[in-house]
Amino acid sequence: MRKIIIAIDGYSACGKSSTAKMVAEALGYIYIDSGAMYRAVTLYFHEHHVTLSNEREVEKALEGISIEFKRHDDGLHTYLNGMNVEDEIRKMYVSQNVSEVSALAAVRRQMVGQQQKMGKHKGVVMDGRDIGTVVFPDAELKVFMMAEMSVRAYRRQLELLNKQQMLNLDEIVENLEKRDHIDSTRAESPLTQAEDALILDTTNLTLEEQADIVVGMALERILDDSKKLV
Ligand code: CDP
Repeated sequence: MRKIIIAIDGYSACGKSSTAKMVAEALGYIYIDSGAMYRAVTLYFHEHHVTLSNEREVEKALEGISIEFKRHDDGLHTYLNGMNVEDEIRKMYVSQNVSEVSALAAVRRQMVGQQQKMGKHKGVVMDGRDIGTVVFPDAELKVFMMAEMSVRAYRRQLELLNKQQMLNLDEIVENLEKRDHIDSTRAESPLTQAEDALILDTTNLTLEEQADIVVGMALERILDDSKKLV
C-alpha cells in the first residue's frame, strides 16, 4: 500500500500526541513528536543558560544539540545528546519556556530541517503546530485538532498525575492559554489551520474514537491515492 504523510496540528493538550501514536501504530507508520524536539531544545537552553535574545548564542548552542528518538516498551523516548530526557522535557518548567524558545527563527529552521528529513520516505505521522503548513505543506492528510479549554486542562492534569506531577487546574489553564497565545501570534510559523486541513473537535471524543476517526481519514486518502494511480 502507498505510504502517506499525516500531519496533525492544533492546540496543546487536545490529544494530538496520543492520537498520532495510535494512528501510527494502526498503520505501521513512524510517529514523530515534533513538540518533544522543541522541548528538548528548551531543556538544553535552560541547562546551558542560553540568552534567547542573543542570536549568536542561540545559533552556537544549536550546534551542540543532537536529538533522537529511541523505542522503549512504553513508546518512543526523546534523547538529547545521548541522554534520555523523556520525563524531564514534560515538566512544568520546560512547558513554561518552550513557546518562547520555539518562536526563535534559528530554532525553527534547524528543527523543521530535521523533521523534513525524518519524513523523506513517508509513512510518518507527525504532530505539532506547523506540520501541515510549513514542515509538510504537501502532506496527503492534514488534521487540525481542537477541544474546549476545560477538557484540555483536565486531560493534561491526568497525564501529569500519571507522571507523579501534581498541578492544580488553574496553573495548567494558565500555561495552556499562554502557550496558545504565543504559538498563534508568533512571526515564525504561527499555529494556524492549513486551508486543506480537516478539523477534529475532540471535546466529546475518547482517545480511541479520535484515533479511529483519523485512521479512517487516512485509509480514505490512501485508497483515493491508489485509485488515482490506476
Ligand atoms: O504536549 P503539548 O501539546 O502541550 O505541546 P507539545 O506538542 O509538546 O509542544 C510544546 C511546544 O512546542 C508548543 O507549545 C509550541 O510552542 C512548540 N511547538 C512548535 O512551535 N512547533 C511544533 N511543530 C511543535 C511544538
